[in-house]
This record gives sequence, structure tokens and C-alpha cells, in this order.
Amino acid sequence: MKHLLSTHDLGREDAVRILDTAEQMAAVGTREIKKLPALRGRTVVNLFYEDSTRTRISFEAAAKRLSADVINFAAKGSSVSKGESLKDTAQTLEAIGADAVVLRHWASGAPARLAATDWINAAVVNAGDGTHEHPTQALLDAFTLRRHWSRVRGIESTGADLDGMRVVIVGDVLHSRVARSNLWLLRTLGAEVTLVAPPTLLPVGADAWPCAISFDLDETLRTGPDAVMMLRVQAERMNAAFFPSVAEYSRRWGFDDVRLAALDEQGFEHTAILHPGPMNRGFEISSGAADSKRALVLEQVANGVSVRMAVLYLLLSGDN
Ligand code: CP
Repeated sequence: MKHLLSTHDLGREDAVRILDTAEQMAAVGTREIKKLPALRGRTVVNLFYEDSTRTRISFEAAAKRLSADVINFAAKGSSVSKGESLKDTAQTLEAIGADAVVLRHWASGAPARLAATDWINAAVVNAGDGTHEHPTQALLDAFTLRRHWSRVRGIESTGADLDGMRVVIVGDVLHSRVARSNLWLLRTLGAEVTLVAPPTLLPVGADAWPCAISFDLDETLRTGPDAVMMLRVQAERMNAAFFPSVAEYSRRWGFDDVRLAALDEQGFEHTAILHPGPMNRGFEISSGAADSKRALVLEQVANGVSVRMAVLYLLLSGDN
């Protein structure tokens, strides 16, 4: 693996290798094992054209736990505002010593473009591109789901994959790179996926994707899925014409306290709630659901560091 650009192109063997490596990395950052020397002398550049809290900071923490040097670059406040191109920016960063470029960009395809050219030799990691993909988010979600699936089945092992797990992805699928990356990876790992969305927030062509589609969240929850992944409503990418009202959205597609209580009443103790963050509390998810014992949101964030360590290690250590 030279780059990590998408989960669509990630084979099962590579995906499982990343997840297994992440399991080994999970012990790093503790009092017992603060750091590993694996990437000493390597430089990771976080090149972010869009805002981020979780992804940027966890890539920084991941690189530091592997003893790499980290350079954080935000397009805001840089020479990008003077018109500098992605090519010139990336080449400038490589001249400063970048061995890996972790790129978040508003344009779908920007990381693939950077990786496909001979502009730079550095490894490219897609940290979210437009509405296309967010592969490390899907990997950390799969890592979290794999642990949850082990708990549900009462087995010690983290297991190799998600065969037979039933996962529901709910909300603004149209604008969600998280939904796309998760769908491809979950299918690769053997999970069954159902997308639940307002009709106006499903992309054209979604009916050809390898998943079930529903417009009725309550009906889907009554099947007792193993996990429900709520998506952030991406108001910043939204044309008002697409959008149901906030009240209608919350009532029909939000994970509210009524739906949370219904899971308890139906005895679905195994159903976990995930959200990639940042959450719009009171919109796609209630505080009651987000802070409930079913919610794995902070576990997802913590697992993100282990998964990103695994990705950087496998790309940069030469041990692959
Ligand atoms: N989930 C996610 O990508 O969050 P950030 O935008 O904060 O990185």
C-alpha cells in the first residue's frame, strides 16, 4: 500500500491488516507505553483545506505516538489565499521534508489527483474529500464495530471481520463521504447495510449500491440492528431546496429520546449508536441518545488514534 485514498479500492486483506495493526497500536499512548520509535526521522504533514477537529488532531497524536515529526498546515491563513495551487503547496511541503501528506480537501478526488501525479513522492492519505470518501473514518468505525460485535457475541477475540453484522446508516447520505466510505468497507468486511434517508438526501444511483434502502427509520429500528450510525446533517453543503425542515427532519430521521426508549422497550440491548462527529445535538441526534450507554461516539474518537497510527505505520515504516 503506497497511499490510502478510499475504502472502495481497499481489499479485505489490507483492511483487516490495518484493523489488526490498530489493535496492536491501541496500547501505545498509555502510561506503560507512551510512544514507539517506529517513525523516528519521518515527517507527516496535515494539509487541511477544510476545518477539522477529530481527524487533524488524531492524525497529529498518531504521528507523535510513532515518534514522527508533524507539520500542521491549514489553508486558511496560508498562501492558498493568494492563489497557490495544490501542486505548488504539496511540492513546497515535500521540499520541507514531508514523507506523508494527510489531505483534507473540499474537492472530491483531490487526494487521488495528488497521488496519481508525479508532483510529489510522499504517501498520500485521504482525510476526507468533498462528498467522496473519508477512509480513515470508516476504518475507525469498523474498528469500533468489530469490538462491539465481539461484545455482542460474547467472544474474547476482536474477530477478523463483521460477517453477519447488521448496520444502519441514517441521514444526509447525499453529502456524506462518511456514509460512502462506511458502505464500501462494511460490505467488504461482511456486514449488511441499510441506508435510511429522506428521499431528497439520497444520491442519484444509490439504488444500485450493495445495500438496502429505507425512508422509514422506525420500521428499520424495529428490526433490532446491531448498530445505528447517525450522519451529521451537512447544512454547509446544502441547497435549501433539498432540505426538509429541521422539525420534520428530527421527527422522521433524528435519533431522539423516543426512539432511544423504544429500543429499550423492545429489548434491543445490543443496538449501539455511532456518530462520526461533530454532532448537531437536537437535530440528527438528541443529547439523551448521544450521551446514553449505547453511544460509542467517544470510543470512536479514541479508536481513531489507533487506526491512524496503523495507517501511518503501514505506509511509512517500510514494513509492508
Ligand atoms: N469525523 C470527522 O471527520 O470529524 P472532523 O471534521 O472534526 O475531523
